Amino acid sequence: MKKKILITGASKGIGKSIAQTLSNGDFELFVTGRDQTRLNETAQKTGAKAIEINLLENNACEKILSQTGPVDILINNAGEYIWAPVEKITDEQISRIFKLNLEIPYKLITLFTKQMKENKWGRIINIGSISGSVGEANASLYSASKSGLIGMSKALALELAEHGITINVINPGWVKTDLIDNPCIDLEEELECIPQKRFIHPDEIAKLTEYLISDEAKGITGQSLNICAGLSLG
Ligand SMILES: NC(=O)c1ccc[n+]([C@@H]2O[C@H](COP(=O)([O-])OP(=O)(O)OC[C@H]3O[C@@H](n4cnc5c(N)ncnc54)[C@H](OP(=O)(O)O)[C@@H]3O)[C@@H](O)[C@H]2O)c1
Repeated sequence: MKKKILITGASKGIGKSIAQTLSNGDFELFVTGRDQTRLNETAQKTGAKAIEINLLENNACEKILSQTGPVDILINNAGEYIWAPVEKITDEQISRIFKLNLEIPYKLITLFTKQMKENKWGRIINIGSISGSVGEANASLYSASKSGLIGMSKALALELAEHGITINVINPGWVKTDLIDNPCIDLEEELECIPQKRFIHPDEIAKLTEYLISDEAKGITGQSLNICAGLSLG
């Protein structure tokens, strides 16, 4: 039987690229997003089943589970970035960013691990950020939410190890997607700070994901893997 994979936030960007890479016929794919047109495009290209949902709405995770049933592989990718000095951050932003970037991934994990444990096999990938790994000025809220993913993944890796479940965090550096299409970010300036003088391509994240969910990577768990063209080196 084909393994079932859920990828959140696959209507565009990194999630779409992950869906395309994993649409090799080996898996049954489920993809989520809010933008119906873009999501259907991903679904058509990959043969995935589309679940149109705003992850911030009530009971979003339960609604997803009701459409997917148990999955073998969970890829928590959907996320939002906020660039703002700390004193400008609002209460609404605090709850929204923590909910989308940390609470929803955790909630989905609580819903899907029961069956993974029974199967004695599971793979969980959380898409973090280099900001959560080393910190980013003017992105403290985003960094905090992504650091939370790292702590959560380390703890769960210990808890779930004997059940054949691995959980890892991939921390991308700058990837040119809509997420960073922001007038406050000067990409030319950012490029100068990247040791390899290039942005990460979404396919690089997708290929690492493909490896981490494979049987060859069964020994890798609880890791926080930076894929950032050297940015984390300072
Ligand atoms: N791009 C970078 O430089 C970078 C760097 C480090 C980490 N990351 C992380 O990589 C992940 C993917 O980012 P990306 O660059 O691919 O961003 P993106 O192009 O903006 O895509 C974000 C995806 O998340 C979905 N999403 C956002 N808010 C949602 C909500 N409330 N409910 C449901 N879905 C929602 C979007 O769906 P709709 O558009 O359909 O609403 C879209 O599919 C994020 O976790 C991000 O933090 C990105």
